[in-house]
Amino acid sequence: MMFSWRQAFVSVARSSADQKTVRRINFKKVIAYQKRTSSSMADKFKLPSRYGAGEKSVWVEYIQLAAEYKPAVNLGQGFPDYPAPDHVTKALAEITTGDNPLLNQYTRGFGHPRLVQNLSKVYSPLIGRQIDPINEILVSSGAYEALFSAILGHVDHGDEVIVIEPYFDCYDYMITSAGGKTRFIALKPKSHSENMTSADWVLDEKELVSLFNDKTKMLILNTPHNPLGKVFSQSELEMIANLCKKHNVLCLSDEVYEWMVYKPHKHIRIATLPGMWERTITVGSAGKTFSVTGWKIGWAYGPAELIRNLQVVHQNCVYTCVTPVQEAVARSFEFELARYNSPDCYFFSLATELLPKRDFLVKTLRDNGFNPTVPDGGYFIIADWTKLANKIDLSTEPDKYKDYKFTKKFAKEAGVLAIPPTAFYSEPHKHLGEDYARFCFIKKDENLQLTEKLIREWNAKK
Ligand SMILES: Cc1ncc(COP(=O)(O)O)c(C=O)c1O
Repeated sequence: MMFSWRQAFVSVARSSADQKTVRRINFKKVIAYQKRTSSSMADKFKLPSRYGAGEKSVWVEYIQLAAEYKPAVNLGQGFPDYPAPDHVTKALAEITTGDNPLLNQYTRGFGHPRLVQNLSKVYSPLIGRQIDPINEILVSSGAYEALFSAILGHVDHGDEVIVIEPYFDCYDYMITSAGGKTRFIALKPKSHSENMTSADWVLDEKELVSLFNDKTKMLILNTPHNPLGKVFSQSELEMIANLCKKHNVLCLSDEVYEWMVYKPHKHIRIATLPGMWERTITVGSAGKTFSVTGWKIGWAYGPAELIRNLQVVHQNCVYTCVTPVQEAVARSFEFELARYNSPDCYFFSLATELLPKRDFLVKTLRDNGFNPTVPDGGYFIIADWTKLANKIDLSTEPDKYKDYKFTKKFAKEAGVLAIPPTAFYSEPHKHLGEDYARFCFIKKDENLQLTEKLIREWNAKK
């Protein structure tokens, strides 16, 4: 505030000499100078236009909301509220204080040797080819940075990238900041029945075909899908793969939820389809694989010519990821590979552990007037809340979109925080997400039971 200059000076001018000095200061000149400086600084140091208007992030806003309203349960952000497997966290504890001090120092920039070796051991049999740990894998700061390096390493000015909505919200910023143009296509529900599953959300083939042209550089696939939980089927993947091959387009396949798939559904890696290895970059996450989202280690694998482009972006941005965490992820993979054929292997036990949580939350939502889409994979449920519209007064919430109004009012009244899915749609398609709220179910049973109690009590009061 301009006035605070004079106030500040006067308040510290205790002696009469100081007060004389204060009288000599020309405050008008000081204020004019301050105005000139702040407007020229505002012009010069504004956000570069490639980041648009610096749109709000739903994550920043809803973390703030959770801190403000302290909802009794937070089913917003996707992370477990219970411990990761013991061997995983113990590995990290041992590494940092263990007898090899070098494990606390820089490691190889494109991936710690023990980790890339293990990633190759895990994925080679799944992909059906020997993956070269040195040239065909990049370790990144979470899957997020693998996506960033893949997009910045391939998308050029004027290139088009096809993105399937709803989509993980950073894809679009990464594409536009690389100078590319995003072409969106939305998954739409085939019906609105009471027993919808994520397989009911489908792409219109004709619409997809119409988006491909000679500017198309890349298509981003996310399977299992956040937020719908859709696990793309063999025929859906073939349709996408055929179009990528026909138009010479890369596929960036975000598979961070690869181990969270509920039987009888199976995760199919699009890189395994004929002719797709050559044009696919597949992304994974240690955070999701071992339930340690705060570790922020991810990876990308694919043919050396493509991975090389990611490496260039990575080496000039992150350069090398945290060594002890990479070593711990490597040891965790070794532990799981040693029990790969047992149901205790975390790659398989995680989905078994999550299934009753999913079913419990689906039932809770159904019993209380929501229409949830049962997810075949991942750990989110999208639920249509519109049958509850007459029970909740949304007019007090100033937001533009109904799902923002609903999730905020619901958090305040019921004490259960969910995420508004319009955050996962482009502006022209936001109306497609307005009737839904996204709930995360990788939470302690007691917190899911509390959710049930809170939603039931809220419903009974209305
Ligand atoms: C679809 C999708 N991709 C990528 C990520 C980022 O993963 P990481 O935490 O490893 O950066 C997430 C995290 O929620 C996600 O949901």
